[in-house]
Amino acid sequence: MSASTNFQQLTYKLEALETQAANQITHASDTATLDQLRIMLLGKKGELSNILSNMSKLSDEERPLIGQRANLLKEDIHSLIGRRLALLKAAVMNDRVIRETLDITAPSIGTRSGHRHPLVKTTEDIIDIFCGLGYSIEEGPEIETDYYNFTALNIPEHHPARDMQDTFYLSENSLLRTHTSPVQIRHLEKNPPPTRIIAPGRVYRRDSVDATHSPVFHQVEVLAIDEGLDFSHLRGTVMAFLKQFFGDLPVRFRASYFPFTEPSAEVDVQWQDRWLEVMGCGMVDPAVLEGLGLDPERWSGFAAGLGVERFCMVKYGIDDIRRLYTSDLRFLKQF
Ligand code: DAH
Repeated sequence: MSASTNFQQLTYKLEALETQAANQITHASDTATLDQLRIMLLGKKGELSNILSNMSKLSDEERPLIGQRANLLKEDIHSLIGRRLALLKAAVMNDRVIRETLDITAPSIGTRSGHRHPLVKTTEDIIDIFCGLGYSIEEGPEIETDYYNFTALNIPEHHPARDMQDTFYLSENSLLRTHTSPVQIRHLEKNPPPTRIIAPGRVYRRDSVDATHSPVFHQVEVLAIDEGLDFSHLRGTVMAFLKQFFGDLPVRFRASYFPFTEPSAEVDVQWQDRWLEVMGCGMVDPAVLEGLGLDPERWSGFAAGLGVERFCMVKYGIDDIRRLYTSDLRFLKQF
Protein backbone atom coordinates (compact mmCIF):
# COMPACT_ATOMS: atom_id res chain seq x y z
CA MET A 1 0.00 0.00 0.00
CA SER A 2 1.44 3.36 -0.96
CA ALA A 3 1.45 6.16 1.62
CA SER A 4 -1.53 8.47 1.58
CA THR A 5 -1.16 12.16 0.79
CA ASN A 6 -2.12 12.90 4.35
CA PHE A 7 0.72 10.75 5.63
CA GLN A 8 3.20 12.48 3.37
CA GLN A 9 1.98 15.92 4.32
CA LEU A 10 2.29 15.13 8.01
CA THR A 11 5.77 13.72 7.51
CA TYR A 12 6.88 16.89 5.74
CA LYS A 13 5.35 19.04 8.41
CA LEU A 14 7.18 17.11 11.13
CA GLU A 15 10.44 17.42 9.23
CA ALA A 16 9.90 21.13 8.72
CA LEU A 17 9.07 21.56 12.40
CA GLU A 18 12.27 19.73 13.31
CA THR A 19 14.41 22.14 11.26
CA GLN A 20 12.51 25.18 12.46
CA ALA A 21 12.74 24.15 16.14
CA ALA A 22 16.48 23.43 15.96
CA ASN A 23 17.01 26.82 14.37
CA GLN A 24 14.89 28.76 16.85
CA ILE A 25 16.37 27.00 19.86
CA THR A 26 19.99 27.63 18.86
CA HIS A 27 19.16 31.29 18.37
CA ALA A 28 17.27 31.79 21.61
CA SER A 29 19.27 34.41 23.49
CA ASP A 30 17.83 34.02 26.99
CA THR A 31 15.97 31.58 29.20
CA ALA A 32 12.64 33.42 28.90
CA THR A 33 12.71 33.03 25.10
CA LEU A 34 13.46 29.34 25.54
CA ASP A 35 10.44 28.93 27.82
CA GLN A 36 8.22 30.59 25.25
CA LEU A 37 9.64 28.31 22.55
CA ARG A 38 8.91 25.23 24.60
CA ILE A 39 5.25 26.27 24.92
CA MET A 40 5.01 27.31 21.29
CA LEU A 41 6.47 24.03 20.01
CA LEU A 42 5.30 21.41 22.50
CA GLY A 43 2.47 23.02 24.44
CA LYS A 44 -1.15 21.84 24.31
CA LYS A 45 -1.93 24.37 21.61
CA GLY A 46 1.60 24.26 20.23
CA GLU A 47 2.78 23.42 16.76
CA LEU A 48 3.34 19.73 17.34
CA SER A 49 -0.16 19.24 18.74
CA ASN A 50 -1.46 21.21 15.84
CA ILE A 51 0.21 18.86 13.35
CA LEU A 52 -0.94 15.78 15.21
CA SER A 53 -4.56 16.91 15.29
CA ASN A 54 -4.69 15.75 11.67
CA MET A 55 -3.77 12.15 12.59
CA SER A 56 -7.42 11.02 12.54
CA LYS A 57 -7.30 11.14 8.79
CA LEU A 58 -4.56 8.54 8.67
CA SER A 59 -5.00 4.83 8.13
CA ASP A 60 -4.54 2.39 11.03
CA GLU A 61 -1.08 1.43 9.74
CA GLU A 62 0.06 4.99 9.21
CA ARG A 63 -1.06 6.38 12.57
CA PRO A 64 1.52 4.61 14.80
CA LEU A 65 4.31 5.52 12.36
CA ILE A 66 3.52 9.22 12.63
CA GLY A 67 3.02 8.80 16.37
CA GLN A 68 6.52 7.33 16.76
CA ARG A 69 8.03 10.02 14.63
CA ALA A 70 6.29 12.73 16.64
CA ASN A 71 7.54 11.23 19.91
CA LEU A 72 11.11 11.20 18.68
CA LEU A 73 10.78 14.82 17.58
CA LYS A 74 9.39 15.75 20.99
CA GLU A 75 12.35 14.12 22.74
CA ASP A 76 14.78 15.86 20.40
CA ILE A 77 13.24 19.25 21.04
CA HIS A 78 13.33 18.65 24.82
CA SER A 79 17.00 17.75 24.76
CA LEU A 80 17.88 20.67 22.46
CA ILE A 81 16.13 23.06 24.85
CA GLY A 82 17.92 21.42 27.82
CA ARG A 83 21.34 21.86 26.27
CA ARG A 84 20.70 25.44 25.21
CA LEU A 85 19.42 26.25 28.71
CA ALA A 86 22.62 24.90 30.28
CA LEU A 87 24.72 26.99 27.91
CA LEU A 88 22.75 30.16 28.65
CA LYS A 89 22.96 29.60 32.40
CA ALA A 90 26.72 29.08 32.24
CA ALA A 91 27.10 32.28 30.24
CA VAL A 92 25.03 34.23 32.77
CA MET A 93 27.18 32.85 35.61
CA ASN A 94 30.39 33.68 33.80
CA ASP A 95 29.21 37.15 33.21
CA ARG A 96 28.38 37.58 36.89
CA VAL A 97 31.74 36.25 38.01
CA ILE A 98 33.51 38.76 35.80
CA ARG A 99 31.26 41.65 36.81
CA GLU A 100 31.40 40.88 40.54
CA THR A 101 35.13 40.23 40.84
CA LEU A 102 36.55 42.14 43.80
CA ASP A 103 40.12 43.32 43.63
CA ILE A 104 41.14 42.78 47.23
CA THR A 105 44.59 44.19 46.52
CA ALA A 106 43.18 47.58 45.60
CA PRO A 107 44.21 50.32 48.03
CA SER A 108 41.44 51.62 50.26
CA ILE A 109 39.99 55.00 49.46
CA GLY A 110 41.27 56.85 52.44
CA THR A 111 38.77 55.73 55.08
CA ARG A 112 40.71 54.17 57.95
CA SER A 113 38.87 51.32 59.58
CA GLY A 114 40.19 50.15 62.92
CA HIS A 115 43.54 50.96 64.46
CA ARG A 116 46.50 49.41 66.22
CA HIS A 117 45.80 48.00 69.66
CA PRO A 118 47.89 49.96 72.21
CA LEU A 119 49.85 46.80 73.12
CA VAL A 120 50.69 46.15 69.48
CA LYS A 121 51.68 49.78 69.03
CA THR A 122 53.90 49.66 72.14
CA THR A 123 55.58 46.44 70.97
CA GLU A 124 56.20 47.96 67.55
CA ASP A 125 57.68 51.10 69.08
CA ILE A 126 60.04 49.02 71.25
CA ILE A 127 61.06 46.92 68.23
CA ASP A 128 61.68 50.03 66.14
CA ILE A 129 64.05 51.51 68.71
CA PHE A 130 66.11 48.31 69.06
CA CYS A 131 66.20 47.77 65.30
CA GLY A 132 67.67 51.27 65.10
CA LEU A 133 70.39 50.11 67.52
CA GLY A 134 71.27 47.19 65.24
CA TYR A 135 69.27 44.40 66.89
CA SER A 136 67.35 41.78 64.93
CA ILE A 137 64.13 40.05 65.94
CA GLU A 138 63.92 36.47 67.17
CA GLU A 139 60.97 34.30 68.14
CA GLY A 140 60.49 31.34 70.42
CA PRO A 141 57.64 28.94 71.23
CA GLU A 142 55.06 29.79 73.88
CA ILE A 143 54.93 26.14 74.92
CA GLU A 144 58.37 25.57 76.38
CA THR A 145 60.24 22.76 78.02
CA ASP A 146 61.47 22.85 81.59
CA TYR A 147 65.03 22.91 80.22
CA TYR A 148 64.76 26.14 78.22
CA ASN A 149 62.43 27.95 80.59
CA PHE A 150 64.42 27.16 83.75
CA THR A 151 67.40 24.79 83.75
CA ALA A 152 69.41 26.32 80.91
CA LEU A 153 68.85 29.73 82.54
CA ASN A 154 70.63 28.57 85.65
CA ILE A 155 67.39 27.83 87.53
CA PRO A 156 67.75 24.14 88.46
CA GLU A 157 64.94 22.03 89.86
CA HIS A 158 64.05 23.03 93.47
CA HIS A 159 65.61 26.48 92.99
CA PRO A 160 63.43 29.02 94.87
CA ALA A 161 63.31 31.26 91.79
CA ARG A 162 60.93 28.73 90.26
CA ASP A 163 58.32 29.58 92.87
CA MET A 164 58.13 33.15 91.67
CA GLN A 165 57.29 32.00 88.18
CA ASP A 166 54.64 29.38 88.74
CA THR A 167 53.02 28.46 85.46
CA PHE A 168 50.61 26.16 83.68
CA TYR A 169 52.00 22.71 82.93
CA LEU A 170 50.75 20.80 79.89
CA SER A 171 52.69 17.70 80.87
CA GLU A 172 55.57 17.00 83.20
CA ASN A 173 58.10 18.56 80.88
CA SER A 174 56.07 21.01 78.85
CA LEU A 175 54.78 24.28 80.19
CA LEU A 176 53.61 27.71 79.10
CA ARG A 177 56.74 29.86 79.20
CA THR A 178 56.94 32.26 82.12
CA HIS A 179 59.25 34.71 80.36
CA THR A 180 60.89 35.36 77.00
CA SER A 181 64.36 34.56 78.40
CA PRO A 182 64.36 30.97 76.96
CA VAL A 183 64.70 32.59 73.52
CA GLN A 184 68.21 33.65 74.63
CA ILE A 185 69.21 29.98 74.90
CA ARG A 186 67.43 28.86 71.73
CA HIS A 187 69.06 31.67 69.78
CA LEU A 188 72.60 31.10 71.11
CA GLU A 189 72.37 27.35 70.42
CA LYS A 190 71.94 28.08 66.72
CA ASN A 191 73.75 31.40 66.33
CA PRO A 192 77.28 31.77 67.64
CA PRO A 193 78.20 35.24 68.94
CA PRO A 194 78.66 38.09 68.28
CA THR A 195 74.91 38.59 68.27
CA ARG A 196 72.29 41.16 69.20
CA ILE A 197 68.63 40.23 69.30
CA ILE A 198 65.32 41.13 70.80
CA ALA A 199 62.51 38.60 71.27
CA PRO A 200 58.99 39.94 71.73
CA GLY A 201 56.23 37.57 72.78
CA ARG A 202 53.48 36.39 75.07
CA VAL A 203 54.23 34.85 78.46
CA TYR A 204 52.19 33.13 81.17
CA ARG A 205 52.15 32.94 84.94
CA ARG A 206 49.77 31.57 87.51
CA ASP A 207 48.65 34.89 88.92
CA SER A 208 45.40 36.36 90.15
CA VAL A 209 44.05 39.14 88.01
CA ASP A 210 44.10 42.66 89.45
CA ALA A 211 44.85 46.18 88.23
CA THR A 212 48.50 45.36 87.58
CA HIS A 213 48.54 41.55 87.11
CA SER A 214 47.38 39.28 84.36
CA PRO A 215 48.13 35.56 83.92
CA VAL A 216 48.92 36.27 80.27
CA PHE A 217 51.11 39.22 79.38
CA HIS A 218 53.82 40.34 77.00
CA GLN A 219 57.57 40.77 77.26
CA VAL A 220 60.43 41.83 75.05
CA GLU A 221 63.74 40.07 75.71
CA VAL A 222 67.01 41.77 74.84
CA LEU A 223 70.33 39.95 74.38
CA ALA A 224 73.75 41.13 73.25
CA ILE A 225 76.83 38.89 73.28
CA ASP A 226 80.19 40.01 72.01
CA GLU A 227 83.83 40.34 73.01
CA GLY A 228 84.45 42.95 75.67
CA LEU A 229 80.89 43.92 76.62
CA ASP A 230 80.54 45.19 80.18
CA PHE A 231 77.97 46.85 82.43
CA SER A 232 78.52 50.26 80.86
CA HIS A 233 77.28 48.89 77.53
CA LEU A 234 74.19 47.53 79.24
CA ARG A 235 73.56 50.82 80.99
CA GLY A 236 74.18 52.86 77.84
CA THR A 237 71.81 50.71 75.78
CA VAL A 238 69.04 50.78 78.38
CA MET A 239 69.36 54.55 78.87
CA ALA A 240 69.30 55.20 75.12
CA PHE A 241 66.25 53.00 74.75
CA LEU A 242 64.32 54.51 77.68
CA LYS A 243 65.06 58.04 76.53
CA GLN A 244 63.76 57.31 73.07
CA PHE A 245 60.67 55.57 74.40
CA PHE A 246 59.63 57.83 77.30
CA GLY A 247 61.51 61.05 76.63
CA ASP A 248 63.31 62.65 79.57
CA LEU A 249 62.03 60.67 82.57
CA PRO A 250 64.44 60.21 85.52
CA VAL A 251 65.86 56.64 85.52
CA ARG A 252 67.57 54.62 88.24
CA PHE A 253 69.30 51.23 88.32
CA ARG A 254 68.74 49.16 91.45
CA ALA A 255 70.82 46.08 92.34
CA SER A 256 68.74 42.94 92.09
CA TYR A 257 68.99 39.21 91.55
CA PHE A 258 68.23 36.97 88.60
CA PRO A 259 69.74 33.46 88.37
CA PHE A 260 70.84 33.96 84.76
CA THR A 261 72.59 37.34 85.15
CA GLU A 262 75.43 38.51 87.39
CA PRO A 263 75.39 41.29 88.37
CA SER A 264 71.68 41.94 87.97
CA ALA A 265 69.67 45.11 88.18
CA GLU A 266 66.14 46.38 88.02
CA VAL A 267 65.42 49.64 86.26
CA ASP A 268 62.89 52.16 87.54
CA VAL A 269 61.54 55.29 85.91
CA GLN A 270 60.09 58.17 87.88
CA TRP A 271 56.48 58.52 86.98
CA GLN A 272 53.73 60.51 88.73
CA ASP A 273 56.06 61.22 91.69
CA ARG A 274 57.09 57.66 92.37
CA TRP A 275 59.61 55.10 91.13
CA LEU A 276 58.11 52.48 88.89
CA GLU A 277 59.97 49.31 87.96
CA VAL A 278 59.96 48.76 84.20
CA MET A 279 62.56 46.10 83.47
CA GLY A 280 65.06 43.55 84.75
CA CYS A 281 68.54 43.24 83.32
CA GLY A 282 72.11 42.17 83.96
CA MET A 283 75.32 40.74 82.59
CA VAL A 284 74.75 37.20 81.28
CA ASP A 285 75.95 34.77 83.96
CA PRO A 286 79.14 32.88 82.90
CA ALA A 287 77.39 29.65 83.94
CA VAL A 288 74.77 30.23 81.21
CA LEU A 289 77.47 30.82 78.59
CA GLU A 290 79.38 27.72 79.69
CA GLY A 291 76.22 25.64 79.47
CA LEU A 292 76.08 26.65 75.82
CA GLY A 293 79.71 25.74 75.21
CA LEU A 294 80.81 29.37 74.98
CA ASP A 295 84.04 30.48 76.63
CA PRO A 296 83.17 33.18 79.25
CA GLU A 297 86.78 34.40 79.14
CA ARG A 298 86.21 35.43 75.55
CA TRP A 299 82.49 36.22 75.31
CA SER A 300 80.43 38.41 77.56
CA GLY A 301 77.14 40.16 77.18
CA PHE A 302 74.05 41.56 78.71
CA ALA A 303 70.37 40.72 78.75
CA ALA A 304 67.20 42.49 79.70
CA GLY A 305 63.53 41.66 79.92
CA LEU A 306 60.80 44.23 79.86
CA GLY A 307 57.05 44.04 80.35
CA VAL A 308 55.17 45.50 77.41
CA GLU A 309 52.01 46.16 79.45
CA ARG A 310 54.00 48.23 81.96
CA PHE A 311 55.55 50.32 79.19
CA CYS A 312 52.19 50.79 77.56
CA MET A 313 50.44 51.79 80.79
CA VAL A 314 53.10 54.33 81.75
CA LYS A 315 53.28 55.86 78.30
CA TYR A 316 49.54 56.27 77.85
CA GLY A 317 48.56 56.77 81.49
CA ILE A 318 46.40 53.64 81.69
CA ASP A 319 45.30 52.87 85.26
CA ASP A 320 44.23 49.24 84.97
CA ILE A 321 45.87 46.42 82.98
CA ARG A 322 42.48 44.79 82.39
CA ARG A 323 41.49 47.60 80.05
CA LEU A 324 44.06 46.22 77.61
CA TYR A 325 42.27 42.89 77.28
CA THR A 326 38.54 43.59 77.44
CA SER A 327 38.11 44.93 73.90
CA ASP A 328 35.95 47.83 75.05
CA LEU A 329 35.68 50.04 71.98
CA ARG A 330 35.21 53.18 74.05
CA PHE A 331 38.69 52.54 75.45
CA LEU A 332 40.36 51.28 72.29
CA LYS A 333 39.09 54.13 70.12
CA GLN A 334 41.21 56.58 72.10
CA PHE A 335 44.40 55.27 70.53
N1 DAH B 1 63.00 36.98 82.68
C1 DAH B 1 62.84 37.90 83.76
C2 DAH B 1 61.42 37.88 84.25
O1 DAH B 1 60.54 37.62 83.51
C3 DAH B 1 63.18 39.30 83.32
C4 DAH B 1 64.63 39.45 83.02
C5 DAH B 1 65.50 39.88 84.01
C6 DAH B 1 65.11 39.16 81.77
C7 DAH B 1 66.83 40.03 83.74
C8 DAH B 1 66.48 39.30 81.50
C9 DAH B 1 67.31 39.73 82.52
O2 DAH B 1 67.01 39.03 80.30
O3 DAH B 1 68.63 39.88 82.23
O4 DAH B 1 61.19 38.18 85.37
